[in-house]
Amino acid sequence: MRIRRTLEGFDAYGWETPSRDIAAEVGLRPEQIVRLDTNTSPYPPLPELRALAKGAQRLEVNQYPDTTYLELREGLSRYCRLGVERFVVTNGADEGLDITVKVLLDNGDEVVVPSPTYSMFAVASELMGARVKRVWRDPEDFAISADKVLHEVGQKTRLVFLCNPNSPTGNATPLSEVEKIAAETKATLVVDEAYHEFGGATSAELTEKYDNVVVCRTFSKAFSMAGVRVGYLIAGKETVEQLNLARPPNSLTVPSLFLAQAALRNLGEMRRNVERISRERSRVFEALSAAGSVSPFPSVTNFVLFRVEGGASKAKALQRALMRKGLVLRAYSESSRVGDCLRLTIGTRAVNSRVVAAIREASR
Ligand SMILES: Cc1ncc(COP(=O)(O)O)c(C=O)c1O
Repeated sequence: MRIRRTLEGFDAYGWETPSRDIAAEVGLRPEQIVRLDTNTSPYPPLPELRALAKGAQRLEVNQYPDTTYLELREGLSRYCRLGVERFVVTNGADEGLDITVKVLLDNGDEVVVPSPTYSMFAVASELMGARVKRVWRDPEDFAISADKVLHEVGQKTRLVFLCNPNSPTGNATPLSEVEKIAAETKATLVVDEAYHEFGGATSAELTEKYDNVVVCRTFSKAFSMAGVRVGYLIAGKETVEQLNLARPPNSLTVPSLFLAQAALRNLGEMRRNVERISRERSRVFEALSAAGSVSPFPSVTNFVLFRVEGGASKAKALQRALMRKGLVLRAYSESSRVGDCLRLTIGTRAVNSRVVAAIREASR
């Protein structure tokens, strides 16, 4: 088959290795593998799953879902305190990014990506034939100023992606800087707020004032529903209409709509989990700071990035040592500029203690 010329030499998303393969490689059973590399929640959404089990026989899975997703948008409207017309419901945040690039990018357009950051911004843009211009965050604290971003924005720039708080670095960009970018460019600013609930700040209100701002969110992180695949975009009314041009009619399932709607009626559960994870994050940060051979970066998310003394080869060796114990952390290529770092998703208290002890042991 002859693929599109755009995709010749294309740098695709690096799929995560399945737990079964990792287990086989390190001689463990698959159930002994703990995924701490995808920033998901250690707490399954049990109340919502119980409600699903109870109502399962009444779920009309023989029908398509209501493709306006009105009931879910009503829930989002109450949760975000914005009108129902301000949401585009998507199959995870990734589909939100996909819809956005489809609506905005033509071959040869430019996209500015403050980096290191979530790899799908570049992947989705390059799939459309756009050229990605990286603007590197400060190597010491990963801060990025509006001026630095705006300096890279040129005539051909159609999109700027800002992950806030950022993955993999865990830090947030002040909202005043976000607004400055929105105000001083005609390009569309996508603010990816996948980790919003952990940090608290949001650019959602900016979408009222600026029609070039799109906020991208997910149920995969704070709501413990990565496997459910629900996300949403927030934008001004007209921008929502434009985004809907590329929205597929049935990308959510009836069960996933049920679970997401139930989660929005049970915000207390999500908030308790966010508190638990944030407390654990502080404890892990302190423990890693005291471990000696690693330096964690402050985080307002559900993960902590830490630098490993001795550089990229030591980081990879530590990742391997942890993997042999069934603990899977995320490592990075040299070109990402965080090749000497590992990213740890905050797990349960017991798992976090195991990770910290294993890091101490490996660096002795
Ligand atoms: C910054 C960021 N955006 C989007 C996503 C994808 O989220 P979803 O599971 O909703 O597609 C992730 C997942 O790790 C992420 O880290």
